[in-house]
Amino acid sequence: MSVLSSPWLNHIICGDARRMEAVPDASVQLVVTSPPYNVAKDYSDHDDDLSLEEYVDLLNAVWRECYRVLVPGGRLCVNVANTDRKPYLSLVSLIDEQLRTSGQTWLHRGHIIWDKGACLSGNTKVFVRERSTRAVACCRLSSLHDGGSWNGLDVEGYNATGQTCWLPISGLWEVEVTQGLALTFTEGCAVVATPEHRFMRKDGLLALAKDLQVGDRLRRAFSTPAYQGSIPTAFASCDLAWALGLYLAEGSISQETESGVRTLRYHLHSNEYGWVERLRGVWEAFGGTITSHKAGNKLVVSVSGYVACAVVGEFISGRTSHDKLPRNDVIGAPLEWRQAFLQGWLDGDGYLNEKAQRWEGNITGVNGRLMPTLHALARSVGYRLQHGAGWATAEPNGQRHPVVRWKLYLRESSHHNSVAWDALQIKEITTDNARFFDLALADEPHLFVLADGLVSHNSAGVSTAWGSFGRSTNPTLRDVHEYITVWSKDRLKLADGSETGVTGNQFVAWTRSIWRPEELIGELQKKIAAKLADARKRDKDDAWIAESIARAVWSQDTVPGETVWEMTTASSVDHPAPFPIELPKRVIELYTRPADVVLDPFMGSGSTAIAAVQMGRHYVGYELSIEYCQLAERRLAELRKAPETTGDNGK
Ligand SMILES: C[S@@+](CC[C@H](N)C(=O)[O-])C[C@H]1O[C@@H](n2cnc3c(N)ncnc32)[C@H](O)[C@@H]1O
Repeated sequence: MSVLSSPWLNHIICGDARRMEAVPDASVQLVVTSPPYNVAKDYSDHDDDLSLEEYVDLLNAVWRECYRVLVPGGRLCVNVANTDRKPYLSLVSLIDEQLRTSGQTWLHRGHIIWDKGACLSGNTKVFVRERSTRAVACCRLSSLHDGGSWNGLDVEGYNATGQTCWLPISGLWEVEVTQGLALTFTEGCAVVATPEHRFMRKDGLLALAKDLQVGDRLRRAFSTPAYQGSIPTAFASCDLAWALGLYLAEGSISQETESGVRTLRYHLHSNEYGWVERLRGVWEAFGGTITSHKAGNKLVVSVSGYVACAVVGEFISGRTSHDKLPRNDVIGAPLEWRQAFLQGWLDGDGYLNEKAQRWEGNITGVNGRLMPTLHALARSVGYRLQHGAGWATAEPNGQRHPVVRWKLYLRESSHHNSVAWDALQIKEITTDNARFFDLALADEPHLFVLADGLVSHNSAGVSTAWGSFGRSTNPTLRDVHEYITVWSKDRLKLADGSETGVTGNQFVAWTRSIWRPEELIGELQKKIAAKLADARKRDKDDAWIAESIARAVWSQDTVPGETVWEMTTASSVDHPAPFPIELPKRVIELYTRPADVVLDPFMGSGSTAIAAVQMGRHYVGYELSIEYCQLAERRLAELRKAPETTGDNGK
């Protein structure tokens, strides 16, 4: 039977790669894949927290199947990162050892080191610049339009220049920096502050920037002028915080009536009757009168009383789901208070998935600032809130809005890239008008254009291991790379390996063992330096410069693979661990000819299939999760619809 008419070809089979029964023996020229790393990632069906023995068994079974389906001389390319730190677990060594001792004839061809530190995020481009007395930061989150990621807003708390805690979702953000102080931290980031700016020290006390000492540790840097250091005693009760959080999820306040009465309402489920007493305890203390009534399966709790409504207004701005937002004081409140507030919101809007140790829920994306605010709030109590892309639409007020699915993990991910908030130690304080303003974002590498036009990115490479800075005690290596370990089945050569379509330059570059696509940075640097020089000559103001640089950064042409790999991030496709399409693409172009067959036994979001289609190869894949199979099919369908604009490189 010709492969072209094979029912398995160009399909992603929703099933277990330990038994790839649909794929015949010796029918595949290349396997390119990235297995789960067993680091407790939140896959929808696969348990990524197996014992080492179970994990080894899973991989062994899959490699056995790969051997069966590969043609003699066919290649297996496995992308893997090393994991764990205490002690370090070299997954690449583990897999190499598995293949070497498998009893099958696998021939090792070597390792490709993928230098992740040199990649740019396709999601977020940020530039930050400072000139004399003003810093201008600008950010665009390109995935926002589809209700996707708000990760860039992790910069909250670093906007230490006195205006707002959050970087706006897009557009320019300008702040005055008169008589700036630059605080440099051991984590490798710097913050510009005015001397009067308040920071929270590790011991929980507030200190003015001018009173901070080298060696002080910051818990979190706030810039809320209104924050007075503690919640007034009258508001200190955690029950109140809970009631406010619940209000954020389920509450509304009526317009004032002619007699000046306003009513606060909670729209609960009828089985949440137990909460009425707790709400009564809170609101009666502020002179509110509580009544409740059932309406179908709803339970409406009403609190009438001007003071109660005013108290809510102290902590939450807005009155409806379109505009309700916790005020900065909430973020500045003591830890237990914030925890109770978050608990109230979770009780109202989420449900606890005990098995997975997380809260989950859906929220309509009508209020663009709510999710980032909750995200920051969750981070501030040590939890991780993750949003999916909009997966359905709701139509309040006749307008379509994405419904955003969220998950709140009750433990911080150890694989998150952020700086350790509680462990920022001041290394240096300078007063000479802070030279630059550097942000630390908590997601894949981001791009920064600094005051002097330098472009940098915040991959793991620019930060240092906390706890041993400059000392020999315990410097810890931070991997900024992953591996692709390459093996051949039975023999080195393919029987009929004619030209693959790769250019001479690509062949030379890609057969080098380190893949480091970083030239873009140099190009951008030149472009920005020219813009700055031009602006100075023409005496342009800051806003003009900011905008023109922003345009330069955003419009930077990237030649996929040649200059930059735009990263597929967990938030740009709804999968926790996609690899950039450039990775399978290079492997495919190096090791197969057009019309050859490429297999990915751990297909995930479909990156390998997309790369195969783009390169004119056939694909076949296995994936355990129906959700990811559907996601992969959606991505493939988009590719077929608009071949010239698909893939994460946008080209
Ligand atoms: C690291 S991810 C692969 C990501 C993929 N390279 C991409 O770009 O989206 C590993 C995938 O393997 C899947 N998986 C885990 N165990 C599996 C099994 N036994 N058979 C098939 N797929 C499995 C997981 O659901 C997950 O989507």
